[in-house]
Amino acid sequence: MKSVALFLALASLMPLIDSVSSLPTEPMIMSRCDAQHNTSLPAANAFLPSPFKFLAGVSPSPGFGEWNSNLWDCRRQEIGEMFQEYELGWLPGPPDHLLASLENNNLTITCSVNSTDITFVVPITYPSGGSPPYPAMLVLEYPTLPIPEGIAVMNLNTTDIAWQTDATSRGKGKFYDLFGADASAGAMIAWTWAVSRVFDALEQLQQNSTDTRIDIGHIGTTGCSRWGKGALVAGAFEHRLALVIPQESGSGTLAEIVDENVWFSNELEQFVNNTNLLPFDHHMLIGMVAPRALLAIDNFGVEWLSPNSQYGCEVAGRLVYQALGVADHMGYSQAAAHTHCAFPDDQTPVVNAFIDRFLRGNNNTDTNVTDTASGAFNQSRWINWDVPTIPR
Ligand SMILES: *[C@@H]1O[C@H](CO)[C@@H](O)[C@H](O)[C@H]1NC(C)=O
Ligand SMILES: *[C@@H]1O[C@H](CO)[C@@H](O)[C@H](O)[C@H]1NC(C)=O
Ligand SMILES: *[C@@H]1O[C@H](CO)[C@@H](O)[C@H](O)[C@H]1NC(C)=O
Ligand SMILES: *[C@@H]1O[C@H](CO)[C@@H](O)[C@H](O)[C@H]1NC(C)=O
Ligand SMILES: *[C@@H]1O[C@H](CO)[C@@H](O)[C@H](O)[C@H]1NC(C)=O
Ligand SMILES: *[C@@H]1O[C@H](CO)[C@@H](O)[C@H](O)[C@H]1NC(C)=O
Ligand SMILES: *[C@@H]1O[C@H](CO)[C@@H](O)[C@H](O)[C@H]1NC(C)=O
Ligand SMILES: *[C@@H]1O[C@H](CO)[C@@H](O)[C@H](O)[C@H]1NC(C)=O
Ligand SMILES: *[C@@H]1O[C@H](CO)[C@@H](O)[C@H](O)[C@H]1NC(C)=O
Repeated sequence: MKSVALFLALASLMPLIDSVSSLPTEPMIMSRCDAQHNTSLPAANAFLPSPFKFLAGVSPSPGFGEWNSNLWDCRRQEIGEMFQEYELGWLPGPPDHLLASLENNNLTITCSVNSTDITFVVPITYPSGGSPPYPAMLVLEYPTLPIPEGIAVMNLNTTDIAWQTDATSRGKGKFYDLFGADASAGAMIAWTWAVSRVFDALEQLQQNSTDTRIDIGHIGTTGCSRWGKGALVAGAFEHRLALVIPQESGSGTLAEIVDENVWFSNELEQFVNNTNLLPFDHHMLIGMVAPRALLAIDNFGVEWLSPNSQYGCEVAGRLVYQALGVADHMGYSQAAAHTHCAFPDDQTPVVNAFIDRFLRGNNNTDTNVTDTASGAFNQSRWINWDVPTIPR
């Protein structure tokens, strides 16, 4: 956990909350729910930080009443801003103009900001059977788990958006052509921005009646390893994603991961020897996806995935789903040792269950999945907070 087991997701427009907006003004790192956001890091904390405790100066009680979904949206926004500030870099909003076209099943997306344009292409494979509109999986790069019949597949070429060869790749790729090589966003936020543009493009084609074959309300994402990390981040920040399936998305220690590549922002480096100062951990990235569906597919056999940390992160992340009354919207399946990203057949039913329920709308499917080959998590060592009930 403190070694940052990477997992899992911002998005909805936050309603203004009167009781929050009446607070005295302080330095802010975000403002959509008009909460005051304390820009000082909290004191070191050897536990997993509470998903349910606002930063100092903003507290749900006393004075904020009981938990409700608006208040959770506000805390969720605060969590998202912390992730952007300290770990991932800032996610820009939509471009000034976006133009989508579809030719030979290639979705071509042109985005303009000020006087710069970029164009990227997302190939779509439509199902051969069934009838539209089809649910879809927007895969970061290529699928490494079986996508069942009847589901359209779209592929995002992540390297086209943000390079990721090694530490020298920072600031390179189409995202940076648009937002500048010195943009704070690491590669995963750049990919997330592109994922959001795919939704914008599909919405435009639907409005234009150019193509109505994709069921935009039932699109999931997946990817393995670096793309598993990316799928989780996209899921946290793009609320139109209905299902998120990060596969083998863990990592080693912070020191290892920040030097390996440019997936994170430069800001994360300051925490390498001070992980207890991080005001969040990835159970809160999982929590940002809630109540939307999330299935973590893991592998106990790869040390660099930090499987025990991953397991603990999943157990803790599921507590946010529990608070929202939808524990079975989040599952994890941690298989015994196998080759990295070589999906074991025995996890197929779990993937199918999540796709059936959350992309096909078959509500009778059992998605209460909490499987681990040998994960161990000492909850009292890591969790010193209670789980509230948050009515939705
Ligand atoms: C901001 O956070 C710091 C560290 O937790 C705390 O000492 C300070 O009192 C907070 N400021 C406000 C206005 O709450
Ligand atoms: C779709 O785009 C890919 C990648 O840009 C290109 O290689 C391919 O030829 C295109 N396919 C069609 C049918 O235009
Ligand atoms: C992905 O984009 C990169 C960089 O633009 C390009 O070199 C590569 O050929 C693309 N891959 C595919 C499969 O289109
Ligand atoms: C676009 O132009 C505006 C106004 O000059 C500027 O504030 C903004 O930073 C520019 N955006 C980018 C991404 O360069
Ligand atoms: C689709 O709609 C967008 C704006 O919503 C417009 O700019 C574009 O020209 C339209 N494209 C087609 C093919 O009609
Ligand atoms: C972390 O500590 C190690 C050992 O003291 C040191 O070599 C390294 O430079 C430190 N890293 C950072 C980012 O401060
Ligand atoms: C499944 O449940 C969702 C959320 O409660 C609901 O919107 C949807 O209509 C249900 N689907 C079916 C087929 O009953
Ligand atoms: C989910 O599964 C766990 C353990 O497998 C079980 O204890 C729990 O009762 C189940 N919850 C539901 C709602 O079925
Ligand atoms: C779990 O953590 C608690 C609190 O740190 C500790 O007292 C206990 O010995 C731990 N249990 C195990 C089995 O390690």
